[in-house]
Amino acid sequence: MAFSRGLVLAAIVSCYIVYVYLRRKRQRKADKIFGAQNGCLPMEVMLPYKWPFALDVLKKQYDALPSQRLLAFQSQYFDRLGPNFKLMLFGNEGYMTTDPKNIEAVLSTRFEDWVMGSRSAGLYPMLGEGIFTQDGRPWKHSRELLRRQFVRIQYQKLDVFDNHVNELLNGLASAPDTIVDMQPYFFRFTLATTTDLLFGETEGVLTNDVEDAFASSFDYASLISAIRLRLADLHFLYKPKKFRNACGVIKSYADHFVSRALKTLEQEGEEIALSRYPFILDLYNDMKDAKLVRDQLMHVLIAGRDTTACLMSWTFYLLVRHPTVLKRLQKEIASVVSGNERNVTRAQIAQIPYLRYVLNETLRLYPQLPVNVRIAAKTTLLPSGGGPHGTAPVLMPKGTGVAWSAYHMHRMTRLYGPNAREFDPERWENTDLERQIGWGFLPFHGGPRLCLGKDFALTEASYAVVRIVQAFPGLRLPPTGVENKPTGEERQNLTIVVSSADGCKVLLR
Ligand code: HEM
Repeated sequence: MAFSRGLVLAAIVSCYIVYVYLRRKRQRKADKIFGAQNGCLPMEVMLPYKWPFALDVLKKQYDALPSQRLLAFQSQYFDRLGPNFKLMLFGNEGYMTTDPKNIEAVLSTRFEDWVMGSRSAGLYPMLGEGIFTQDGRPWKHSRELLRRQFVRIQYQKLDVFDNHVNELLNGLASAPDTIVDMQPYFFRFTLATTTDLLFGETEGVLTNDVEDAFASSFDYASLISAIRLRLADLHFLYKPKKFRNACGVIKSYADHFVSRALKTLEQEGEEIALSRYPFILDLYNDMKDAKLVRDQLMHVLIAGRDTTACLMSWTFYLLVRHPTVLKRLQKEIASVVSGNERNVTRAQIAQIPYLRYVLNETLRLYPQLPVNVRIAAKTTLLPSGGGPHGTAPVLMPKGTGVAWSAYHMHRMTRLYGPNAREFDPERWENTDLERQIGWGFLPFHGGPRLCLGKDFALTEASYAVVRIVQAFPGLRLPPTGVENKPTGEERQNLTIVVSSADGCKVLLR
């Protein structure tokens, strides 16, 4: 009996192996036909490696970590190999690109063919289910729901930022040291503005201890989540207890606001509740599940907080190192907004185009999602990079990973000319660059998953920059004690976003 059971099991396993083999064979044949029909040729450029499974490539990256110049280190690959190359990691083939045509295919023209891959599992403990990690129909639903909120916000008056900017200015003005690191102030500022946007009235609701525990848990959980993202399919190897605790703290913080909104709805009626908690209640109206609402809020929070803080930090980092640019910005701001005017309007910001050029140029040099990845959900192609000239389409069998680097693309001389690595806001002035460059400028990506918070982020950053520049006319780089390397060679912290490892140290007076 035991013998025959073993035999049955062996037969089932053998059948399964044969089935998988035949399915793969059929898939390979179908892929080949698809490739031939579309004129695909193999990508000939490959990142060289010497050790089995290309472990030497991994080791080199690992060795570059302590210097905190990983992105600068990776520049050599693109400089040497060009915009597209193939790489092997643990025996799997993957592709790297800075070619606008290929990025456009992944994000737009062949959008349906690509998915997030392991991003969802990597971020799940911190964020749960939501827009930033979903694909297909669930993503479409989340996008539609959240888009409504961002349309509403576009018409908000900018005085929603006023209290937080005043707090930021007061904090900077009363900083204990002469040399002030602005970066941590910006992180606090964008946490406050984004939680306000999402959770509604947050001011004075919770004690300072709870607020501080939330802020530090959010920072820590984001850091560990970024490491888990980099581990891709091996994310399960890294889930330390402190991380699990931090995820618990931020979730119960968000839970608190969701239940507060629901209680207000129950006790004070729809009109009052909606005026205080529009974001939460509109989501709840559709989702009818407090946990799912909380998760969506966390997704938007992670998408919006660090990105905008880093944009502001890099902006001032660059401004104090380029005093001529700072001087011109001060002048142009002063010509539109008078010195004691506190409530800056959208119309005024629109009248300071130089501010847009400064922000564009900062986002070009330091795009906040420097490197990103998608996985082919079905067999598809990249339009460019194949064959001897690197111009033919390349077959991407189902499951292939493609990473693209906006960071390195934005520094390519082929796109931005010989001074591509320099901070030069004037390049955006009196030129058609913004339109011409198309998919060559992607701080907010493009296509159906274009950043939903683009307008909010740019408005928030513009508003704060105007107020800071007005408040501190003596703003400058300290003459000593602060590193001043060429752009891109400074030390960087690379989490999900890229920030300056030395902060943004300035003299305010
Ligand atoms: C300078 C600031 C910002 C930058 C550079 C930025 C950049 C990006 C990028 C590149 C993506 C695409 C990610 C991907 O598809 O893999 C994205 C998505 C997203 N961003 Fe932003 N973002 C910024 C600020 C914000 C803010 C302030 C919010 C909200 C308050 C926000 C909300 C979102 C959301 C919800 C998505 C997901 C969209 C989707 O998948 O359909 N972002 N952002």
